[in-house]
Amino acid sequence: MKRFEGKVALVTGAASGIGKAAAVRLAEEGATVFGVDVNAGAGVDLTCDISDEQQVADAVAAVIAKHDRLDVLANVAGVLRADHTHELKLADWDRIIRINLTGTFLVCRAAIPHLLKTRGNIVNTSSTAALGSHPWMAAYAASKGGILSMTRVIAVEYAKQGLRANCVCPGGISTPLHGQFRLPKGGDPELLRGAMPPVPYVGPEHAASVIAFLASDDARYINGTEVRADGGALS
Ligand SMILES: NC(=O)c1ccc[n+]([C@@H]2O[C@H](COP(=O)([O-])OP(=O)(O)OC[C@H]3O[C@@H](n4cnc5c(N)ncnc54)[C@H](O)[C@@H]3O)[C@@H](O)[C@H]2O)c1
Repeated sequence: MKRFEGKVALVTGAASGIGKAAAVRLAEEGATVFGVDVNAGAGVDLTCDISDEQQVADAVAAVIAKHDRLDVLANVAGVLRADHTHELKLADWDRIIRINLTGTFLVCRAAIPHLLKTRGNIVNTSSTAALGSHPWMAAYAASKGGILSMTRVIAVEYAKQGLRANCVCPGGISTPLHGQFRLPKGGDPELLRGAMPPVPYVGPEHAASVIAFLASDDARYINGTEVRADGGALS
């Protein structure tokens, strides 16, 4: 499939995991990909902390300066940590909300004027944590729920101008972020049962393929919604 020939895609979180896999998938399908990440690495055209307003503005300006257009924004960058809610430090709450939710907003805000010119679209990365069965993730789940709500707002607000916005909600994808998850001290693993898929975990290409679908014309009548890629965990 070559669904993105002639199209330019900006992918955040492109150094690792789902973002890296999404960049690879979009490029395989013909897109010119501009990858950004707070960490440098293969597939990263520019380092950018998405929680920094100026760095985000500079990154979007760099895409336009280099490629003169933007058709797809895949917001994948994000961070996770787990704490008992009554022990969650305000600094950790603020950091997670700032990167996951505010960062996603900042990139959307900077990209929308360019996406309107191409009748392009946005795929934001939420999580099954936004939908249920995730203890110890008050900040993370709130950030991902905020992404869902914000995405619906964008979808309605710009639909008549031809811009679409959707979310992928991954769960249980084997990536460095997933591997770094630790139960908080004394956390009962039974409480996580509802978040576990009835099948083995899969690699990030299984979330990347959903991002590519939502970003493609195959999904042109899909707007303001989310697709779970969780192996049936929340079913
Ligand atoms: N792996 C899963 O099971 C899973 C489940 C649900 C949602 N997600 C979401 O998928 C997205 C990708 O996660 P992943 O599992 O591939 O993790 P990952 O850690 O492999 O990749 C995340 C990337 O985001 C980058 N990043 C972090 N903070 C950043 C910042 N401030 N600015 C720019 N880049 C930043 C990291 O450097 C990293 O390259 C995240 O939003 C995560 O919440 C993952």
